[in-house]
Order: sequence, then C-alpha cells, then structure tokens
Amino acid sequence: MGLDDIIRSLQHKSILITGSTGFLAKILVEKVLRTQPEVKKLFLLIRASDLNSARYRLHNEILKKELFKVLREKHGSGFDSFVREKIFPVVGDVGHESLGIADLELRKTLWREADIIINVAATTSFDERYDVALEVNTLGAKHVLEFAKQCGGRLEVLLHVSTAYVSGNKSGLIMEKPIKLGETLIPYSHLDIDFELKLVEIELEKARNEGADEKTQRLAMKKLGLKRARLYGWPNTYTFTKAMGEMMMGHLRGDLPVVIMRPSIIESTFSDPFPGWMEGARTIDSLIVNFGKGKLKCFLADPNLVLDVIPADMVVNAMIVAMATHRSESSLHIYHVTSSVRNPCNYHTLADTSHRYFSKNPCYDKDGRLIVVKRVVMFTTMAQFRRYMTLFYKLPLQILKLVNKVLLQKFRLQYNKLNTNYNYVMHLAELYEPYVCFKGWFDDLNAGKLRSMVSPRSNLAFDTQIIDWDDYFMTIHIPGLVKYVLK
Ligand SMILES: NC(=O)c1ccc[n+]([C@@H]2O[C@H](COP(=O)([O-])OP(=O)(O)OC[C@H]3O[C@@H](n4cnc5c(N)ncnc54)[C@H](OP(=O)(O)O)[C@@H]3O)[C@@H](O)[C@H]2O)c1
Repeated sequence: MGLDDIIRSLQHKSILITGSTGFLAKILVEKVLRTQPEVKKLFLLIRASDLNSARYRLHNEILKKELFKVLREKHGSGFDSFVREKIFPVVGDVGHESLGIADLELRKTLWREADIIINVAATTSFDERYDVALEVNTLGAKHVLEFAKQCGGRLEVLLHVSTAYVSGNKSGLIMEKPIKLGETLIPYSHLDIDFELKLVEIELEKARNEGADEKTQRLAMKKLGLKRARLYGWPNTYTFTKAMGEMMMGHLRGDLPVVIMRPSIIESTFSDPFPGWMEGARTIDSLIVNFGKGKLKCFLADPNLVLDVIPADMVVNAMIVAMATHRSESSLHIYHVTSSVRNPCNYHTLADTSHRYFSKNPCYDKDGRLIVVKRVVMFTTMAQFRRYMTLFYKLPLQILKLVNKVLLQKFRLQYNKLNTNYNYVMHLAELYEPYVCFKGWFDDLNAGKLRSMVSPRSNLAFDTQIIDWDDYFMTIHIPGLVKYVLK
C-alpha cells in the first residue's frame, strides 16, 4: 500500500473520534481534514451539557487553535463552511454506556454511518481518582468497543490509543504484545476488573456514610487508585487503568478489527502542520517548565537512561497508516509508537538542552526580574534524591519551623512557601520515578512494518530516525512549550 492508497482510504469515510478537545486527537482532526478534504464526516464526541455547548467547545477548544492556521489559510473564506460540512459535534461521554449519547436516532445514525471509530479519550493524570480513571480509561474503552460492535460488519476498524507504559516498570526489551484479561505485573497474582469496580463502589459508599466531604473523598479515591495499581505492579493509576482498558478491548472484541496504538511520551509536533505546536504541560514538560521558572534545581533522573519521546504528528501519522492497513481485518494489532529502539534520546539531552535554552532565553519572574538557571543536579536513584532533599531542604525547614515557634511565627509565610515547594517537588519525583528511572526499550518491530510503507520524508512519516533530539528540544519543543504553555 502506497501513500496515495493510504490517503484514499479516508475518502468518503465517516469517522467517530473521542477525545478531540484534547492534545492528540485535535492534531488528528486537523490532519485528516487537510490531507483528505474528501473525508465524508467527522463525528466528534464531546462532553457537554447540550449541543450548543458542544458546538461552543468545538469552536473554542479545537477550531480556534493556532494548530488550524494552515487549514484556515488553505480554505480562506471557505473555512467555516468547509468545517460545517465535515464536522459534527456529538454530545457524549465514554464513561457511560452507549457513549452517553441520549438520542437513540443519533446513535442509530452513527451505527449506520461510522466507517471508522477512534478512541483517544482518556484521563491522563498519573494520580487520578480511581473511580474516575476506571470510568474513563477502562470502562470507556469497553463502552467504545460495545458501541463499535453495534455498527455491525460495516465498521472498517476501531483504533484505540493506549500508552507504551501499560508495561509498568518492566526492563529490557518490551514487546508489542496484547495484555490478557486478568494479567498483572506481579507473578502468580490475578486481577479481577469487576472486583475493582465493586471495591470503588464500596469505598465510596463507606466514605459517604462517614460523612466525608468532596475533598476527603477525592483524596481517598486518589490513594486507592495508587494502592491498587501498585498492588498489581503498575506504578500509577493512569497506566493501570489504561492497561485494564486494553484488556477489555482484547477480551471483548470478538472478530472486530481492532488496532491498539501505544505511544510513549508524546511531545510537540515535529513538522506537521508546523513544528512545535503543543498544548498543556505533559509528563516531562512540567520538569522543563519548572526548570525555566527557576523552581527546579535538582531532580531524580539518570542522565544516561533512555527518554522515550515521540512527536505528536508522528503518532497521528502512525494512526492513519495503521487504520488504512488493517481495514476490515478481523484481528487485533498492537503498535509501539516510540523512539527508544529506533533513535534513543536520553535525560542528559533533556537537562542539557533545557539549560542551554533558558540560559539564552531566560524567563522573568512576576516582578520582571530575570531568572538565572543553573545546571540541574541529577540523582540516579530515589534513595539518593531523598537523602539530598532531606539534608538541604527538609532539615533546614524543620529548623525554620522551630525558629518560627520561638519568634511567634515571624517567618510563617516563608516557611509555608518553602514547605509547599518541598512537598511539590517530592510529589513530582514520586509520580515521575517510574518514567525517569525506566530501564526498558519498546520494541517496534510491528510499527517498523507500518513505517516502511511511507518514505521517511513523506507527510505521513513517523520514522524518528530523522530526528536530531538536541535540535528538536532546542529549536522545536522547548520554544513550542514557551510559546503555547509558558506564554
Ligand atoms: N500525552 C501523552 O504524552 C500520551 C502518551 C501516551 C499515550 N497517550 C494517550 O493518548 C491519548 C490522548 O492523550 P492527550 O495527551 O491528548 O490527552 P488530553 O489532552 O488530556 O485529552 C484527553 C481527551 O479525552 C477527553 N475525555 C476525558 N474523559 C472523557 C469522557 N469521560 N468522555 C469523553 N471524553 C473524555 C477529554 O475531554 P474533556 O476536554 O472534556 O476533558 C479530552 O478531549 C490518551 O488516550 C492517552 O492515554 C498520551
């Protein structure tokens, strides 16, 4: 299959997409409309109270973004009518059966018309409440699959976006293999998803009976998620619930054609529609942003370990090529959309480029003072990091607390600020440890077969070998972050 065939596979097709108000799916929507203007319809499932609110979100959170400037220029004054003809917002929620689409007639239209379904919706917070993460990442996947089955044999493919980190903390070469229902990362243990759902119900009811307020319930649910994830070997609630989502897809799909894409850490666009488009500070971006703001002086990360990054436009290209390749095949295909084997980057590059970038282009504090950045001190293990933080931050903080007691809380504000910073850095370190100390490489043999269908310079390429990571961070990603996130 050549490039033209891939693009042609979207011609006159109707596609239902979830998660389009988010970072990745927005890039997909733009790309499909730009490369295949003869796509029939894009149904975008959007959480909203009614259709007007969904339309409002479509315009404000999707079409108004700078991401769409190339498409706007292409269509000029015809842009609005073009998108009106192609994009149909649908009020819904993947956490509910039938995707929360209340109107039966609309559901029937979708079942009749959808040729392709793409599930990108997720909650991506590492320490999300367990009830919410289960609802969106696990049951969400199940609901999308059940919805897809209603389309009958006409549905060409269901593409589900997962994450490479469903592998948990495995080390060495990690294969593009399905996760079986009930499988865990701890030998001789078994996971029962129904039990997890019941457990959440019981814990929530218990909290309510005890009169716990919303905040207490939220904290309890966050703690429960991390506890259950770690019990079965996953580092956090996000990867655990995404892994269960994959289990649902694999187990319940029957003979529906399903493709699961597992990207690693998705960062700003490499080239398409233009380099450096970004939204929100994701995974490693909080480190870059806090470093630029002068808040991050030391961190946990082994400079020599692989940092698996993939630009968002390459993920979208891989999705399009995979959909075209597996149309109407009644099988399950899994792809790592990653860089660690093909062209590994490392944490040294991240630290070094961040330092060079913010030394040349410093940020200013709220009083207009220039923020001078120094090379971040890196610790290779959590134990080393804790020792350092205790010696240089926790102990001085305790002394300040004592001084405060004697001097009638004279330095209360300073203490509170420093203590908050300390807790924040420790929390970040704990959440990020599984990523920054990750000792695995994602095998991409399957993805390699897809990659070979498109030349590395074509507009559907996703070969990370063409990326010079130093240059990507210095001239594309960090400037993008500064422009779209740090502002
Ligand atoms: N970002 C990464 O580095 C990364 C890496 C690997 C894999 N992934 C995967 O890639 C996908 C996209 O990630 P992203 O970074 O684009 O995430 P994102 O920006 O946080 O977007 C998430 C999207 O999901 C929607 N959503 C959440 N809960 C929903 C629900 N109950 N019903 C319907 N829609 C819901 C959100 O809608 P609202 O606007 O209404 O909240 C939003 O549109 C996810 O599946 C994620 O797991 C991401």
